[in-house]
Amino acid sequence: MANFTEKYGNLAVVLGAQWGDEGKGKLIDILSEEYDTIVRATGGANAGHTIHLPDTENPGQTKKFIFHLIPSGMLHEKTVSVIGNGVVIHFPTLYEELQILEDNQITTKDRLLISDRAHVLFDYHKVVDGMQENTKGEKKVGTTKRGIGPCYTDKIRRNGIRVHDFLDMEVFERKYMANLELFKQMYGDFEYDTETELKFYREKANEIIEMITDGSYYANRALKEGKNVLAEGANGAMLDIDHGTYPFVTSSNPTIGGICTGLGLGATKITNVIGIMKAYVTRVGGGPFPTELLDDLGSQIREAGGEFGSTTGRPRRCGWYDSVVARYSAMVNGLSSINLTKLDVLTGLPTLQIATHYKYRGQTLDSFPASLEWLEEIEVQYIEIPGWTEDISKIRNYEDLPENARAYVEKIEELSEVNVSSIGVGVSREDMIFRD
Ligand code: GDP
Ligand code: IMO
Ligand code: MG
Repeated sequence: MANFTEKYGNLAVVLGAQWGDEGKGKLIDILSEEYDTIVRATGGANAGHTIHLPDTENPGQTKKFIFHLIPSGMLHEKTVSVIGNGVVIHFPTLYEELQILEDNQITTKDRLLISDRAHVLFDYHKVVDGMQENTKGEKKVGTTKRGIGPCYTDKIRRNGIRVHDFLDMEVFERKYMANLELFKQMYGDFEYDTETELKFYREKANEIIEMITDGSYYANRALKEGKNVLAEGANGAMLDIDHGTYPFVTSSNPTIGGICTGLGLGATKITNVIGIMKAYVTRVGGGPFPTELLDDLGSQIREAGGEFGSTTGRPRRCGWYDSVVARYSAMVNGLSSINLTKLDVLTGLPTLQIATHYKYRGQTLDSFPASLEWLEEIEVQYIEIPGWTEDISKIRNYEDLPENARAYVEKIEELSEVNVSSIGVGVSREDMIFRD
Protein backbone atom coordinates (compact mmCIF):
# COMPACT_ATOMS: atom_id res chain seq x y z
CA MET A 1 0.00 0.00 0.00
CA ALA A 2 1.30 3.39 -0.92
CA ASN A 3 -0.74 5.29 1.69
CA PHE A 4 -2.52 7.47 -0.82
CA THR A 5 -5.46 7.95 1.51
CA GLU A 6 -3.09 9.15 4.23
CA LYS A 7 -1.52 11.57 1.76
CA TYR A 8 -4.69 12.86 0.07
CA GLY A 9 -7.40 12.16 2.67
CA ASN A 10 -10.82 10.50 2.48
CA LEU A 11 -12.28 12.83 -0.16
CA ALA A 12 -9.68 13.59 -2.81
CA VAL A 13 -10.48 15.37 -6.04
CA VAL A 14 -8.58 14.82 -9.30
CA LEU A 15 -9.27 17.44 -11.93
CA GLY A 16 -7.80 18.73 -15.19
CA ALA A 17 -5.90 21.96 -14.63
CA GLN A 18 -5.05 22.92 -18.25
CA TRP A 19 -7.07 22.30 -21.45
CA GLY A 20 -7.94 18.65 -20.81
CA ASP A 21 -6.12 15.39 -21.59
CA GLU A 22 -3.57 16.05 -18.86
CA GLY A 23 -3.60 12.42 -17.71
CA LYS A 24 -6.46 12.32 -15.19
CA GLY A 25 -7.39 8.72 -16.04
CA LYS A 26 -3.96 7.39 -15.17
CA LEU A 27 -3.77 8.98 -11.69
CA ILE A 28 -7.34 8.01 -10.85
CA ASP A 29 -6.57 4.42 -11.78
CA ILE A 30 -3.46 4.46 -9.58
CA LEU A 31 -5.23 6.01 -6.57
CA SER A 32 -8.20 3.65 -6.95
CA GLU A 33 -6.03 0.93 -5.46
CA GLU A 34 -6.89 2.54 -2.10
CA TYR A 35 -10.14 4.44 -2.70
CA ASP A 36 -13.40 2.49 -2.37
CA THR A 37 -15.77 4.79 -4.21
CA ILE A 38 -14.97 6.67 -7.41
CA VAL A 39 -17.41 9.42 -8.37
CA ARG A 40 -17.36 11.11 -11.75
CA ALA A 41 -18.58 14.67 -11.47
CA THR A 42 -18.89 16.46 -14.79
CA GLY A 43 -18.76 16.36 -18.59
CA GLY A 44 -19.89 13.55 -20.82
CA ALA A 45 -18.43 11.44 -23.60
CA ASN A 46 -16.37 14.44 -24.72
CA ALA A 47 -13.91 13.11 -22.15
CA GLY A 48 -11.47 10.34 -23.00
CA HIS A 49 -9.52 9.04 -20.02
CA THR A 50 -6.71 6.63 -20.88
CA ILE A 51 -5.31 3.90 -18.65
CA HIS A 52 -2.48 1.54 -19.55
CA LEU A 53 -2.15 -1.66 -17.53
CA PRO A 54 0.88 -3.91 -17.69
CA ASP A 55 -0.05 -6.68 -20.16
CA THR A 56 0.52 -9.94 -18.30
CA GLU A 57 0.47 -11.97 -21.53
CA ASN A 58 3.02 -9.76 -23.30
CA PRO A 59 5.72 -8.68 -20.83
CA GLY A 60 6.94 -5.13 -21.41
CA GLN A 61 3.72 -4.19 -23.21
CA THR A 62 0.61 -2.50 -21.90
CA LYS A 63 -3.12 -2.95 -22.39
CA LYS A 64 -4.92 0.28 -23.16
CA PHE A 65 -8.39 1.31 -21.98
CA ILE A 66 -10.10 4.60 -22.84
CA PHE A 67 -13.13 5.58 -20.76
CA HIS A 68 -15.49 8.33 -21.83
CA LEU A 69 -18.21 7.97 -19.22
CA ILE A 70 -17.23 5.19 -16.88
CA PRO A 71 -15.19 6.38 -13.90
CA SER A 72 -11.51 5.52 -14.24
CA GLY A 73 -11.44 3.37 -11.10
CA MET A 74 -13.46 0.55 -12.69
CA LEU A 75 -10.38 -1.57 -13.44
CA HIS A 76 -10.00 -2.19 -9.68
CA GLU A 77 -12.71 -4.73 -9.00
CA LYS A 78 -13.23 -3.86 -5.34
CA THR A 79 -14.29 -0.29 -6.17
CA VAL A 80 -17.80 1.00 -6.71
CA SER A 81 -18.21 3.82 -9.23
CA VAL A 82 -20.89 6.44 -9.37
CA ILE A 83 -21.71 8.68 -12.33
CA GLY A 84 -22.77 11.94 -10.69
CA ASN A 85 -25.64 14.30 -11.40
CA GLY A 86 -23.30 16.72 -13.19
CA VAL A 87 -22.62 14.26 -16.01
CA VAL A 88 -24.57 14.07 -19.28
CA ILE A 89 -24.91 10.39 -20.19
CA HIS A 90 -25.10 8.89 -23.68
CA PHE A 91 -26.22 5.39 -22.72
CA PRO A 92 -25.14 3.59 -25.92
CA THR A 93 -21.56 4.79 -25.23
CA LEU A 94 -21.85 3.70 -21.59
CA TYR A 95 -22.97 0.22 -22.68
CA GLU A 96 -20.05 -0.08 -25.13
CA GLU A 97 -17.68 0.67 -22.26
CA LEU A 98 -19.29 -1.85 -19.94
CA GLN A 99 -18.94 -4.42 -22.71
CA ILE A 100 -15.21 -3.70 -23.07
CA LEU A 101 -14.77 -4.36 -19.35
CA GLU A 102 -16.76 -7.59 -19.54
CA ASP A 103 -14.70 -8.66 -22.59
CA ASN A 104 -11.64 -8.22 -20.40
CA GLN A 105 -13.10 -10.39 -17.63
CA ILE A 106 -13.71 -7.39 -15.37
CA THR A 107 -17.05 -7.74 -13.67
CA THR A 108 -19.30 -4.69 -13.76
CA LYS A 109 -22.32 -6.11 -11.96
CA ASP A 110 -23.35 -3.95 -8.99
CA ARG A 111 -20.20 -1.88 -9.45
CA LEU A 112 -21.64 1.04 -11.39
CA LEU A 113 -24.31 3.37 -10.07
CA ILE A 114 -25.84 6.38 -11.77
CA SER A 115 -27.27 9.48 -10.14
CA ASP A 116 -31.00 9.85 -10.54
CA ARG A 117 -30.38 13.52 -11.34
CA ALA A 118 -27.89 13.04 -14.21
CA HIS A 119 -29.16 14.11 -17.63
CA VAL A 120 -29.63 11.77 -20.59
CA LEU A 121 -27.85 12.70 -23.82
CA PHE A 122 -29.56 11.50 -26.99
CA ASP A 123 -28.30 11.13 -30.54
CA TYR A 124 -30.25 14.24 -31.51
CA HIS A 125 -28.01 16.27 -29.22
CA LYS A 126 -25.09 15.10 -31.36
CA VAL A 127 -26.92 16.01 -34.57
CA VAL A 128 -27.60 19.50 -33.20
CA ASP A 129 -24.00 19.83 -31.97
CA GLY A 130 -22.86 19.27 -35.57
CA MET A 131 -25.39 21.74 -36.95
CA GLN A 132 -24.41 24.43 -34.44
CA GLU A 133 -20.75 24.00 -35.33
CA ASN A 134 -21.51 24.26 -39.06
CA THR A 135 -23.36 27.55 -38.62
CA LYS A 136 -20.37 29.03 -36.79
CA GLY A 137 -18.04 28.60 -39.80
CA GLU A 138 -14.55 29.90 -38.98
CA LYS A 139 -15.60 30.65 -35.39
CA LYS A 140 -16.51 27.04 -34.66
CA VAL A 141 -15.46 25.79 -31.24
CA GLY A 142 -14.09 22.50 -32.55
CA THR A 143 -16.31 20.49 -30.22
CA THR A 144 -16.04 16.73 -29.93
CA LYS A 145 -19.50 16.53 -31.57
CA ARG A 146 -20.66 14.35 -28.70
CA GLY A 147 -23.77 16.51 -28.14
CA ILE A 148 -22.42 18.09 -24.96
CA GLY A 149 -23.47 21.72 -25.60
CA PRO A 150 -27.05 20.89 -26.68
CA CYS A 151 -27.59 18.51 -23.73
CA TYR A 152 -26.35 20.99 -21.13
CA THR A 153 -28.43 23.65 -22.90
CA ASP A 154 -31.51 21.46 -22.31
CA LYS A 155 -30.54 21.19 -18.65
CA ILE A 156 -30.22 24.96 -18.24
CA ARG A 157 -33.33 25.60 -20.37
CA ARG A 158 -35.12 23.27 -17.95
CA ASN A 159 -36.43 20.76 -20.42
CA GLY A 160 -33.80 18.04 -20.09
CA ILE A 161 -34.56 14.38 -19.43
CA ARG A 162 -33.04 12.94 -16.30
CA VAL A 163 -32.13 9.41 -15.34
CA HIS A 164 -35.04 9.11 -12.84
CA ASP A 165 -37.39 9.57 -15.83
CA PHE A 166 -36.67 5.92 -16.74
CA LEU A 167 -38.80 4.97 -13.73
CA ASP A 168 -41.89 5.75 -15.80
CA MET A 169 -41.34 5.03 -19.47
CA GLU A 170 -44.55 6.77 -20.46
CA VAL A 171 -43.30 10.02 -18.96
CA PHE A 172 -39.88 9.37 -20.48
CA GLU A 173 -41.23 8.90 -24.01
CA ARG A 174 -43.52 11.92 -23.73
CA LYS A 175 -40.64 14.16 -22.65
CA TYR A 176 -38.36 12.67 -25.30
CA MET A 177 -40.82 13.38 -28.14
CA ALA A 178 -41.57 16.90 -26.87
CA ASN A 179 -37.88 17.68 -26.66
CA LEU A 180 -37.13 16.37 -30.13
CA GLU A 181 -40.05 18.41 -31.46
CA LEU A 182 -38.59 21.53 -29.88
CA PHE A 183 -35.23 20.90 -31.57
CA LYS A 184 -37.00 20.39 -34.91
CA GLN A 185 -38.77 23.71 -34.46
CA MET A 186 -35.43 25.36 -33.84
CA TYR A 187 -33.28 23.54 -36.42
CA GLY A 188 -35.72 22.44 -39.12
CA ASP A 189 -37.32 19.06 -39.63
CA PHE A 190 -34.09 17.02 -39.76
CA GLU A 191 -34.31 13.32 -40.50
CA TYR A 192 -34.15 11.27 -37.33
CA ASP A 193 -34.71 7.65 -36.41
CA THR A 194 -36.74 7.92 -33.19
CA GLU A 195 -37.95 4.32 -33.33
CA THR A 196 -34.47 2.75 -33.15
CA GLU A 197 -33.46 5.07 -30.32
CA LEU A 198 -36.62 4.49 -28.30
CA LYS A 199 -36.34 0.72 -28.85
CA PHE A 200 -32.86 0.82 -27.29
CA TYR A 201 -34.15 2.66 -24.22
CA ARG A 202 -37.25 0.44 -23.84
CA GLU A 203 -34.97 -2.60 -23.86
CA LYS A 204 -32.45 -1.12 -21.41
CA ALA A 205 -34.81 0.70 -19.02
CA ASN A 206 -34.94 -2.06 -16.41
CA GLU A 207 -31.18 -2.48 -16.38
CA ILE A 208 -30.72 1.28 -16.06
CA ILE A 209 -33.25 1.42 -13.22
CA GLU A 210 -31.14 -1.10 -11.31
CA MET A 211 -28.18 1.29 -11.48
CA ILE A 212 -30.06 4.38 -10.31
CA THR A 213 -29.13 5.89 -6.98
CA ASP A 214 -29.32 9.23 -5.22
CA GLY A 215 -25.69 10.05 -6.00
CA SER A 216 -25.23 12.75 -3.40
CA TYR A 217 -26.75 10.62 -0.64
CA TYR A 218 -24.66 7.62 -1.69
CA ALA A 219 -21.34 9.52 -1.66
CA ASN A 220 -22.07 11.33 1.61
CA ARG A 221 -23.13 8.11 3.30
CA ALA A 222 -19.97 6.40 2.05
CA LEU A 223 -17.93 9.12 3.75
CA LYS A 224 -19.94 8.75 6.98
CA GLU A 225 -19.30 5.01 6.94
CA GLY A 226 -15.56 5.66 6.83
CA LYS A 227 -15.04 4.89 3.16
CA ASN A 228 -12.55 6.73 0.97
CA VAL A 229 -14.04 8.64 -1.93
CA LEU A 230 -12.21 9.85 -5.01
CA ALA A 231 -13.86 12.48 -7.20
CA GLU A 232 -13.00 12.39 -10.90
CA GLY A 233 -13.17 15.54 -12.98
CA ALA A 234 -13.35 15.71 -16.74
CA ASN A 235 -12.14 18.17 -19.38
CA GLY A 236 -10.01 20.95 -17.90
CA ALA A 237 -10.05 24.27 -16.05
CA MET A 238 -9.30 26.32 -19.17
CA LEU A 239 -12.33 24.71 -20.85
CA ASP A 240 -14.60 25.81 -18.00
CA ILE A 241 -17.71 27.67 -19.18
CA ASP A 242 -17.02 30.46 -16.63
CA HIS A 243 -13.28 30.45 -16.11
CA GLY A 244 -12.00 29.12 -19.42
CA THR A 245 -11.23 30.76 -22.75
CA TYR A 246 -14.89 31.55 -23.48
CA PRO A 247 -16.47 30.86 -25.96
CA PHE A 248 -13.85 28.21 -26.84
CA VAL A 249 -14.86 26.08 -23.88
CA THR A 250 -17.09 23.17 -23.00
CA SER A 251 -20.60 23.67 -21.63
CA SER A 252 -20.00 22.75 -18.00
CA ASN A 253 -17.76 23.65 -15.05
CA PRO A 254 -14.77 21.29 -14.88
CA THR A 255 -13.33 23.41 -12.02
CA ILE A 256 -13.82 22.66 -8.34
CA GLY A 257 -17.25 24.28 -8.02
CA GLY A 258 -18.53 22.01 -10.79
CA ILE A 259 -17.11 19.02 -8.92
CA CYS A 260 -19.09 19.92 -5.75
CA THR A 261 -22.28 20.67 -7.69
CA GLY A 262 -21.84 17.71 -10.00
CA LEU A 263 -21.72 15.31 -7.06
CA GLY A 264 -23.71 16.97 -4.30
CA LEU A 265 -20.67 16.95 -2.03
CA GLY A 266 -20.01 19.91 0.25
CA ALA A 267 -16.81 21.90 -0.23
CA THR A 268 -15.85 21.55 3.45
CA LYS A 269 -15.65 17.76 3.08
CA ILE A 270 -12.87 17.87 0.46
CA THR A 271 -9.48 16.84 1.81
CA ASN A 272 -7.27 17.45 -1.23
CA VAL A 273 -7.56 18.90 -4.73
CA ILE A 274 -5.02 17.43 -7.13
CA GLY A 275 -4.63 19.38 -10.35
CA ILE A 276 -3.28 17.38 -13.27
CA MET A 277 -0.91 19.29 -15.53
CA LYS A 278 1.27 18.11 -18.35
CA ALA A 279 4.93 19.15 -18.20
CA TYR A 280 4.04 21.06 -21.37
CA VAL A 281 0.59 22.10 -22.62
CA THR A 282 -1.80 20.67 -25.21
CA ARG A 283 -5.17 21.75 -26.54
CA VAL A 284 -7.63 20.10 -28.96
CA GLY A 285 -10.07 22.21 -30.94
CA GLY A 286 -10.11 25.97 -31.51
CA GLY A 287 -9.37 28.88 -29.21
CA PRO A 288 -6.48 30.81 -27.71
CA PHE A 289 -3.29 29.01 -26.73
CA PRO A 290 -0.63 31.57 -25.77
CA THR A 291 2.37 29.21 -25.58
CA GLU A 292 1.50 27.16 -28.68
CA LEU A 293 4.44 25.94 -30.76
CA LEU A 294 3.49 26.21 -34.40
CA ASP A 295 6.89 25.05 -35.67
CA ASP A 296 8.61 21.67 -35.98
CA LEU A 297 9.18 21.54 -32.25
CA GLY A 298 5.40 21.43 -31.74
CA SER A 299 5.19 18.45 -34.12
CA GLN A 300 8.13 16.79 -32.40
CA ILE A 301 6.42 17.01 -29.00
CA ARG A 302 3.13 15.79 -30.56
CA GLU A 303 4.89 12.70 -31.94
CA ALA A 304 6.93 12.02 -28.80
CA GLY A 305 3.89 12.42 -26.54
CA GLY A 306 1.43 10.59 -28.82
CA GLU A 307 -0.67 13.74 -28.73
CA PHE A 308 -3.72 12.63 -30.67
CA GLY A 309 -7.15 12.94 -29.06
CA SER A 310 -8.45 9.95 -27.05
CA THR A 311 -12.01 10.79 -28.09
CA THR A 312 -11.76 12.14 -31.64
CA GLY A 313 -8.24 11.16 -32.74
CA ARG A 314 -7.56 14.80 -33.69
CA PRO A 315 -3.93 15.98 -33.45
CA ARG A 316 -3.48 17.99 -30.25
CA ARG A 317 -1.89 21.42 -30.47
CA CYS A 318 1.29 21.48 -28.35
CA GLY A 319 3.17 24.25 -26.54
CA TRP A 320 5.39 25.17 -23.61
CA TYR A 321 4.36 24.88 -19.96
CA ASP A 322 2.48 28.02 -19.08
CA SER A 323 2.79 29.14 -15.47
CA VAL A 324 0.22 31.92 -16.04
CA VAL A 325 -2.34 29.19 -16.77
CA ALA A 326 -1.01 27.15 -13.85
CA ARG A 327 -1.31 30.00 -11.31
CA TYR A 328 -4.76 30.86 -12.62
CA SER A 329 -5.91 27.27 -12.46
CA ALA A 330 -4.41 26.84 -8.98
CA MET A 331 -6.26 29.96 -7.85
CA VAL A 332 -9.64 29.10 -9.36
CA ASN A 333 -9.51 25.51 -8.08
CA GLY A 334 -7.65 26.04 -4.80
CA LEU A 335 -5.22 23.30 -5.83
CA SER A 336 -3.48 21.43 -3.02
CA SER A 337 -0.86 19.97 -5.33
CA ILE A 338 0.03 19.20 -8.93
CA ASN A 339 0.42 15.82 -10.59
CA LEU A 340 2.88 16.75 -13.33
CA THR A 341 2.54 14.27 -16.19
CA LYS A 342 4.55 13.30 -19.25
CA LEU A 343 7.89 14.64 -18.04
CA ASP A 344 9.47 11.76 -20.00
CA VAL A 345 8.20 13.26 -23.27
CA LEU A 346 10.55 16.24 -22.87
CA THR A 347 13.67 14.04 -22.60
CA GLY A 348 16.19 14.92 -25.30
CA LEU A 349 15.12 18.51 -25.91
CA PRO A 350 18.26 20.66 -25.53
CA THR A 351 16.42 23.53 -23.86
CA LEU A 352 12.95 23.99 -22.44
CA GLN A 353 10.93 27.13 -21.98
CA ILE A 354 8.36 28.06 -19.35
CA ALA A 355 6.01 31.00 -19.74
CA THR A 356 6.32 33.25 -16.70
CA HIS A 357 4.01 36.22 -17.48
CA TYR A 358 1.90 37.83 -20.17
CA LYS A 359 2.40 41.44 -21.22
CA TYR A 360 -0.38 43.48 -22.77
CA ARG A 361 0.57 46.79 -24.36
CA GLY A 362 3.72 46.92 -22.27
CA GLN A 363 2.02 46.10 -18.95
CA THR A 364 2.54 42.81 -17.12
CA LEU A 365 -0.86 41.25 -16.44
CA ASP A 366 -1.75 40.03 -12.96
CA SER A 367 -3.67 37.01 -14.18
CA PHE A 368 -5.06 35.19 -17.21
CA PRO A 369 -7.15 37.71 -19.21
CA ALA A 370 -10.83 37.18 -20.06
CA SER A 371 -10.81 38.90 -23.44
CA LEU A 372 -9.93 36.94 -26.56
CA GLU A 373 -8.89 40.22 -28.18
CA TRP A 374 -6.37 40.80 -25.40
CA LEU A 375 -5.17 37.21 -25.70
CA GLU A 376 -4.46 37.80 -29.38
CA GLU A 377 -2.27 40.77 -28.54
CA ILE A 378 -0.38 39.56 -25.48
CA GLU A 379 3.36 38.97 -25.51
CA VAL A 380 4.36 35.87 -23.59
CA GLN A 381 7.47 36.17 -21.40
CA TYR A 382 9.58 33.01 -21.09
CA ILE A 383 12.51 31.67 -19.14
CA GLU A 384 14.80 29.06 -20.60
CA ILE A 385 15.96 25.94 -18.76
CA PRO A 386 18.52 23.39 -19.96
CA GLY A 387 17.13 19.95 -20.85
CA TRP A 388 18.36 16.41 -20.07
CA THR A 389 19.10 13.39 -22.23
CA GLU A 390 18.95 10.48 -19.76
CA ASP A 391 15.99 8.04 -20.01
CA ILE A 392 13.82 8.82 -16.97
CA SER A 393 11.04 6.31 -17.62
CA LYS A 394 12.27 3.73 -15.10
CA ILE A 395 12.95 6.21 -12.31
CA ARG A 396 10.68 5.94 -9.26
CA ASN A 397 12.50 8.16 -6.73
CA TYR A 398 12.51 11.88 -7.25
CA GLU A 399 16.16 12.20 -6.19
CA ASP A 400 17.21 9.85 -9.01
CA LEU A 401 15.97 12.21 -11.72
CA PRO A 402 18.70 14.05 -13.65
CA GLU A 403 19.61 17.37 -12.05
CA ASN A 404 18.17 19.38 -14.95
CA ALA A 405 14.85 17.50 -14.78
CA ARG A 406 14.61 18.28 -11.06
CA ALA A 407 15.48 21.92 -11.75
CA TYR A 408 12.67 22.02 -14.34
CA VAL A 409 10.13 20.53 -11.90
CA GLU A 410 11.23 22.88 -9.13
CA LYS A 411 10.97 25.91 -11.42
CA ILE A 412 7.44 24.81 -12.30
CA GLU A 413 6.58 24.58 -8.61
CA GLU A 414 8.02 28.00 -7.89
CA LEU A 415 6.28 29.72 -10.81
CA SER A 416 2.97 27.86 -10.41
CA GLU A 417 2.96 28.51 -6.64
CA VAL A 418 1.87 24.92 -5.93
CA ASN A 419 3.85 21.82 -4.98
CA VAL A 420 4.29 18.98 -7.42
CA SER A 421 3.30 15.88 -5.45
CA SER A 422 3.71 13.32 -8.23
CA ILE A 423 5.40 13.10 -11.62
CA GLY A 424 4.45 10.95 -14.59
CA VAL A 425 7.31 9.34 -16.49
CA GLY A 426 5.46 6.94 -18.81
CA VAL A 427 2.03 5.67 -19.82
CA SER A 428 1.72 2.71 -17.48
CA ARG A 429 0.17 2.45 -14.02
CA GLU A 430 3.65 1.98 -12.60
CA ASP A 431 5.23 4.99 -14.27
CA MET A 432 4.69 7.54 -11.53
CA ILE A 433 7.07 9.14 -9.05
CA PHE A 434 5.41 10.07 -5.73
CA ARG A 435 7.19 12.65 -3.61
CA ASP A 436 7.02 12.87 0.17
P1 GDP B 1 -7.16 12.51 -19.51
O1 GDP B 1 -8.29 12.85 -20.41
O2 GDP B 1 -6.75 13.64 -18.63
O3 GDP B 1 -7.38 11.25 -18.73
O4 GDP B 1 -5.91 12.26 -20.47
P2 GDP B 1 -5.91 11.43 -21.86
O5 GDP B 1 -6.03 10.01 -21.54
O6 GDP B 1 -6.86 12.02 -22.82
O7 GDP B 1 -4.49 11.81 -22.42
C1 GDP B 1 -3.31 11.57 -21.70
C2 GDP B 1 -2.40 10.70 -22.54
O8 GDP B 1 -1.13 10.72 -21.98
C3 GDP B 1 -2.82 9.25 -22.56
O9 GDP B 1 -2.45 8.69 -23.80
C4 GDP B 1 -1.99 8.63 -21.43
O10 GDP B 1 -1.73 7.24 -21.63
C5 GDP B 1 -0.72 9.42 -21.56
N1 GDP B 1 0.01 9.64 -20.31
C6 GDP B 1 -0.47 9.95 -19.08
N2 GDP B 1 0.54 10.18 -18.23
C7 GDP B 1 1.69 9.99 -18.93
C8 GDP B 1 3.09 10.12 -18.61
O11 GDP B 1 3.48 10.46 -17.50
N3 GDP B 1 3.97 9.87 -19.63
C9 GDP B 1 3.58 9.53 -20.88
N4 GDP B 1 4.49 9.33 -21.82
N5 GDP B 1 2.26 9.42 -21.21
C10 GDP B 1 1.35 9.65 -20.25
P1 IMO C 1 -10.82 15.02 -21.06
O1 IMO C 1 -11.71 14.68 -19.90
C1 IMO C 1 -9.61 17.76 -24.22
C2 IMO C 1 -12.70 20.43 -25.82
C3 IMO C 1 -13.07 20.13 -27.26
C4 IMO C 1 -13.46 21.51 -27.72
C5 IMO C 1 -14.18 22.08 -26.51
C6 IMO C 1 -15.69 21.95 -26.54
O2 IMO C 1 -10.45 13.85 -21.88
O3 IMO C 1 -9.65 15.82 -20.60
P2 IMO C 1 -17.36 19.89 -26.28
O4 IMO C 1 -17.45 18.62 -27.07
O5 IMO C 1 -17.11 19.70 -24.84
O6 IMO C 1 -18.50 20.82 -26.56
O7 IMO C 1 -16.07 20.63 -26.90
O8 IMO C 1 -13.67 21.38 -25.39
N1 IMO C 1 -12.80 19.27 -24.90
C7 IMO C 1 -11.74 18.56 -24.49
N2 IMO C 1 -10.43 18.63 -24.83
N3 IMO C 1 -10.01 16.86 -23.31
C8 IMO C 1 -11.30 16.78 -22.94
O9 IMO C 1 -11.74 15.94 -21.98
C9 IMO C 1 -12.25 17.64 -23.57
N4 IMO C 1 -13.58 17.81 -23.45
C10 IMO C 1 -13.90 18.83 -24.26
O10 IMO C 1 -11.97 19.62 -27.97
O11 IMO C 1 -12.33 22.29 -27.96
MG1 MG D 1 -8.74 12.94 -22.47
